[in-house]
Amino acid sequence: MSHLATKLIAWIDERFPLISTWKEHLSEYYAPRNFNFWYFFGGLALLVLVIQFVSGIFLTMNYKPDAAQAFASVEYIMRDVQGGWVLRYIHSTGASMFFVVIYLHMFRSLMYGSYRKPRELLWIIGMVIYLALMAEAFMGYLLPWGQMSYWGAQVIVNLFSSVPYIGHDLAILIRGDYVVSDSTLNRFFALHVIAVPLLLIGIVFLHIVALHAVGSNNPDGIEIKKHKDANGHPLDGIPFFPYMVVKDAVATVVFLIVFCSIIFFAPEINGYFLEANNFVPGNPMKTPEHIAPVWYFTPYYAILRAIPPLFGSQFPGVVAMGVATMIFFALPWLDRGRVKSIRYRGPIYKTFLAAFVVSFIGLGWLGLLPSTPTYTVIARVLSVVYFAFFFLMPWYTKIDKCKPEPDRVTST
Ligand code: HEM
Repeated sequence: MSHLATKLIAWIDERFPLISTWKEHLSEYYAPRNFNFWYFFGGLALLVLVIQFVSGIFLTMNYKPDAAQAFASVEYIMRDVQGGWVLRYIHSTGASMFFVVIYLHMFRSLMYGSYRKPRELLWIIGMVIYLALMAEAFMGYLLPWGQMSYWGAQVIVNLFSSVPYIGHDLAILIRGDYVVSDSTLNRFFALHVIAVPLLLIGIVFLHIVALHAVGSNNPDGIEIKKHKDANGHPLDGIPFFPYMVVKDAVATVVFLIVFCSIIFFAPEINGYFLEANNFVPGNPMKTPEHIAPVWYFTPYYAILRAIPPLFGSQFPGVVAMGVATMIFFALPWLDRGRVKSIRYRGPIYKTFLAAFVVSFIGLGWLGLLPSTPTYTVIARVLSVVYFAFFFLMPWYTKIDKCKPEPDRVTST
């Protein structure tokens, strides 16, 4: 480094904790040396967050949050704004890829028990991010004002009106009207482009603070802080910078190849990322034959539809859907296993986890299809499997025959 640069850094460092922060969180932050494929997704989530912010800012420059103009403004972005089509596809693909990355990130935590002590708060903060992301995606989906935007919002907001006593007023508060209308579009726009993104930045920051306070878990589910060298560095850890940064860079390149392939060759992915009906302007007078949310919400939507109404009210289904989402918060206290990682768990946990994955994917698939009596029966069975994973967890994790954990991490 040149003499001038060294002096400049020293000048800054006397006034701002630049070098100490760099050291504490990067060059002298020790991450377990046995990180594997599953540890790519936190960094990738950060990448997608940035992609969504940047593409969103540019989309907002030409988008009109007005029920009479919104659809046409999106078409204008797609056809007339220079590079507009690519910006829009980046943003719509980014929304789906965010959930791909987040579901894999969460699944990793289930496999390696990353939500267990001392990472309960890290997990809870992660869950708050997940809820905020769902709200962000739901509100963003209304903005193009296509048929699916309009009717999807209509169906979901109407669910709130099934809440006893306050439901009617609550739905009006969310919509700003008796039906989804221009007022709804205006408030969803404000929340989508500023309120929730601000919240997301804040909670993602807290997520990283909590992560660095306790340190990462790893595929063996044991604490690397237990074995330190004479300098106080974990024997099984390696500095985040440069080693993990280089590792994450490889994941970033692979991810961007996949991401660009989708954008340039199949941005709609057969209706999974962008539904065909959403290229038709939203029409309050014409309900589409089949209304389904985007794939990342469909497991919960299938649970909602699987629960029969009570006295004509959908409230039981709404409760089941709410519990299906919120129950993840309780995981640190439901899991009584002696070990954290799936590597040392017994067959019972592995069977329940596999059944849970099948139920989640199966429900997701059913949620995309129009409901039929047969599908409803299958959705009910899968919902039972889904809830059994959580509600029976205190029992099966306790009786499961675990293998002994190693003292030090096992693989490189
Ligand atoms: C915008 C969303 C998110 C971002 C940017 C993010 C970022 C990160 C990063 C960079 C890491 C460290 C690297 C890694 O372990 O992959 C991490 C770890 C972790 N995250 Fe997230 N995360 C997000 C959402 C979530 C969600 C939704 C959950 C759970 C509900 C969650 C739970 C965790 C846990 C438990 C760890 C520690 C895992 C371990 O050490 O084994 N995160 N996160």
